[in-house]
Amino acid sequence: MAAKFPDRFLWGTATAAHQVEGGNTASDLWLFEMAPGSAFAEPSGDACDHYHRYASDIALLAGLGFSTYRFSIEWARIEPEEGFFSNAALDHYRRMVAACHAARVTPMVTFHHFTAPFWFTRDGGWEDAKSVDRFARLCERAGAALGDLISYACTINEANIPVMLTLMREGANPGSWQRPKSFAAAARLCGGTPERLAPYLLCNGHATVANLIAAHRKSYGILKSHVKGPVGITLSLNDFQAEPGGEALRDMADRIINVQFLEALRGDDFVGVQTYTRAKFGAKGLVPPANSAERTQMGYEFYPQALEATIRQAARISGCPVIVTENGIGTEDDSRRIAYTQAALEGVLRCLRDGIDVRGYIHWSLMDNYEWLEGYRPKFGLVEVNRATQARKPKPSAYWLGAIASKNALN
Ligand code: BGC
Repeated sequence: MAAKFPDRFLWGTATAAHQVEGGNTASDLWLFEMAPGSAFAEPSGDACDHYHRYASDIALLAGLGFSTYRFSIEWARIEPEEGFFSNAALDHYRRMVAACHAARVTPMVTFHHFTAPFWFTRDGGWEDAKSVDRFARLCERAGAALGDLISYACTINEANIPVMLTLMREGANPGSWQRPKSFAAAARLCGGTPERLAPYLLCNGHATVANLIAAHRKSYGILKSHVKGPVGITLSLNDFQAEPGGEALRDMADRIINVQFLEALRGDDFVGVQTYTRAKFGAKGLVPPANSAERTQMGYEFYPQALEATIRQAARISGCPVIVTENGIGTEDDSRRIAYTQAALEGVLRCLRDGIDVRGYIHWSLMDNYEWLEGYRPKFGLVEVNRATQARKPKPSAYWLGAIASKNALN
């Protein structure tokens, strides 16, 4: 029996600028990737050359059956020096959203997906309260330039991930986070001081929470005045669980990482749920997956049921309609991608049957790309990319999910 999704359900794939565009030389991470002793496995380099190949990539996803493309615009290209805005970069992104419409694809645009211009990160990044107005200024300029063509806008991708990563790094010693030693080399390259450097994925996440929430609130209002469609934020939501004795730690993590953010976005047009796995707490902290558990290339437990749990939590606490803005798996075995996604979508259907307002499913990722600190090793793509020739080759999972998208139903 085919299980139908609601009419106008969004079916999409996602990417982020730095992970696919290539040559993002004014960004903070370009510098961190190149610095001696870098924490990154390899530099992003040409990535998937999506900056030049976006039109054929959008045509590819449309041809597979997807109707939505979620991508991000790169702040470092748009404002490479503080206060200097590049009209050429804004024109580029205008051509990109126009290419979506030409291919009958709904563009969902993220205004911040982890990377920033290095002047921003050199001067305290999101740890500094100036970040709120700096980001608002970007949203004002980019919103005015692109908003009439944007169907959905996400202010910030995973605003809760800096604090989540910090808590994970601190482990059993809350408050023990220290600036990585490798910042010294990056500081020399950008003429800054290691104490001020604050890249999104490596900074002191505790210091970012209030600024990121304030930035979302302010930029939400700005984007609402420019963008023709719904505006929201996305969060990285793990399904937090407890073994006996781990309840207090689970609740603490849940409050800091999930709940305070979900409460802050009540009244928004939607909440973007991004889920990959669960995290289990015991009395002494995080409990690793059982030896018998299947693990993904990221080391995460293969646990597609997490998506259903986080959709339920996000809807309950925020009261917003939900869009799954990311869900996927890093694996070389494409049959496991299909199994994972099938199970995750069954969870989405159960949420819908219970009356939860889920409006779309956007898979991470359209294509294999630069997985941040891990480099190019993890394969999240529905489409394989030959990095020497940049040739694209859809995997069986791309045809499988594209067919589900076309039918708007799961077999
Ligand atoms: C991020 C993506 C990333 C994906 C897989 C999400 O946290 O938004 O940029 O590639 O997870 O790890």
